[in-house]
Amino acid sequence: MTWQPDSWRKRPIKQVPNYPDDAVLAKVEDKLSNQPPLVFAGETQSLKHKLGEVASGRAFLLQGGDCAESFAEFSADNIRDSFKVLLQMAVVLTFGASMPVVKVGRLAGQFAKPRSSDTESIDGVELPSYRGDMINAMDFTAKDRIPDPKRLLRVYEQSAATLNLLRAFAQGGLADLGKVHSWVVEFLDGTPQAERFAELAGRITESLDFMRACGITPETARPLAETELYTSHEALLLNYEEALTRRDTITDEKDWYATSAHMVWIGDRTRQPDGAHVEYMRGIGNPIGLKCGPSLDPDELVRLIETLNPDNEPGRLTLIARMGAEQVRSGLPPLLKAVKASGASVVWCCDPMHGNTIKASSGYKTRRVNDVMAEVKGFFDAHDEIGTYPGGVHFEMTGQNVTECVGGVVDVTEARLGDRYHTHCDPRLNGAQALELAFLIADLLKQRRDGSMSMSEAV
Ligand code: PEP
Ligand code: CO
Repeated sequence: MTWQPDSWRKRPIKQVPNYPDDAVLAKVEDKLSNQPPLVFAGETQSLKHKLGEVASGRAFLLQGGDCAESFAEFSADNIRDSFKVLLQMAVVLTFGASMPVVKVGRLAGQFAKPRSSDTESIDGVELPSYRGDMINAMDFTAKDRIPDPKRLLRVYEQSAATLNLLRAFAQGGLADLGKVHSWVVEFLDGTPQAERFAELAGRITESLDFMRACGITPETARPLAETELYTSHEALLLNYEEALTRRDTITDEKDWYATSAHMVWIGDRTRQPDGAHVEYMRGIGNPIGLKCGPSLDPDELVRLIETLNPDNEPGRLTLIARMGAEQVRSGLPPLLKAVKASGASVVWCCDPMHGNTIKASSGYKTRRVNDVMAEVKGFFDAHDEIGTYPGGVHFEMTGQNVTECVGGVVDVTEARLGDRYHTHCDPRLNGAQALELAFLIADLLKQRRDGSMSMSEAV
């Protein structure tokens, strides 16, 4: 059972692109393996420690960002706006949970997409599916759809630039708690429909005023001035991950780490226990995620946990349930029960996006904000039933004012989906929809703390 960064190559693998020239791919892998790491092992360990707090019920996880980052949507404004919305959500959730919120972006590396079909047909023409900008291009031409290994280098460069800006934002003033909260207040002022959230926001304002009066300000207390935002993506292209897998030279353990992001996860389509993705992930020291969809059998989940976290290290493994609003109440409890009975320490996180994708009559792939919230509510209820801790949420979202998901206080109707539908893969919540969900979840968290009745009853 010896593990090496390349031992996945001997295992059956799914979702691999069909590169026309293996020699070019090998050259790219070699080049990548000589690039500096994007993250440092010590950072991934501190994220693991924080996720350990989530596993113990003492913190809450917020993970979110693009379904697929793209070369076309790469800009400082987009990165800033995603960062801002994540921070706004985190402030609201911190208040609701009265606990630290661990922030993890689907950012700086989320470029490869698993597809249900290898090909796509339009008007009788069949071409390879678009698999994300890391592999091929979205335009429906034979040339654009040919997988090009050089795209891996561009992903590395874009991820490095994105991470650089995120680090600057986190340390350089854009994370000031008072400022982040003032954006929340601005959102509420400009959105009369969101009036029901004003009470919670008002209490945050009061708390900040009180702290200021006591002399606790961003100038005197660093945690109010700075934040930590970690990065994550689906580790789908193992050639890329292997090339960026490095041995930690600073700590005594000399373990192997994926240095492409702080956290990486296994998708719902690539979680075969004997498959390549599970083999790669079991050997790295990072915190890792595992998507858990409706087809996952409870016994298989327990076996996967034994493979992926044999030492039962808290914070090592986050189980990201993506059942769908309809199935969460029946599908999730058997998994929660089996994991609880096994004694495994895990973070349970809810992805209420991937089980709720529908096709609008206009043909657009979309999701209803109400379904997203219904799944979160079902996730919380399932944990209450089994006596486990609902540790976090995972969203596909953007800071941009897109029209990709329907509903929300600033209602996006099916008829308006075409107005600003920019996603390169799945439909994302826009900034307002994401913040609204954060308010609703904050209220659920608060209810769990004090058993009070409130606005989420109306959802
Ligand atoms: C995703 O997170 O974008 C994704 C493809 O999810 P899943 O593996 O759960 O389908
Ligand atoms: Co997606």
